[in-house]
Amino acid sequence: MSDRNLKELQLNQRGVVIWLTGLSGAGKTTISNALNKKLTEKKYFTQILDGDQLRGGINSNLGFSETDRIENIRRTAEIAKLFVNSGIITICSFISPTNKIRLQTKEIIGANDYFEIFVNAPLHVCEARDVKGMYKKARAGEIKNFTGIDSLYEPPANADLALNTEVLSVNECVEMILEKILTRISAG
Ligand code: ADX
Repeated sequence: MSDRNLKELQLNQRGVVIWLTGLSGAGKTTISNALNKKLTEKKYFTQILDGDQLRGGINSNLGFSETDRIENIRRTAEIAKLFVNSGIITICSFISPTNKIRLQTKEIIGANDYFEIFVNAPLHVCEARDVKGMYKKARAGEIKNFTGIDSLYEPPANADLALNTEVLSVNECVEMILEKILTRISAG
């Protein structure tokens, strides 16, 4: 039996990476926290990786140029792969703005272990929410290369699931994700 299978047997689950992509303010972190809570209640063993969190630590030397975003996501995908190979359900929330970046992620993690979710809210909605006040600063030119303002976001064409957070509640989003992954993560 492989090392991974042994771990999965021990944890009574199967590992997968749930990758949330979308604009800043679309709801990625909120959904991943709520999903994490729900899975934990259901006795699944999880790990969250979040853009702001990793950028405060292992990726603190990176900015928001295309090259730095690629490196940010490459490191994250490598970390997620370590977790998933230990059978852990790994929830990642990163803007991950381009098809190229997301393809790199899928290749590092492996298509079988990669579940992509497009957290989709229109720019004007994210901007109106402006939870961190960053859109305002970006519009004023105080923050450069801000995704959706002066840096590209390419909506994913082939996500496993798209969630329109303009109309869906956090709970509805979590339920839709669970419906898609529960058989995939359940042991045997
Ligand atoms: S990614 O593009 O490399 O995937 P990541 O998800 O790690 O981005 O980080 C995004 C977070 O960084 C945002 O939620 C926001 O708080 C912060 N941030 C700071 N500057 C920028 C910027 N120029 N563009 C986007 N997000 C930024």
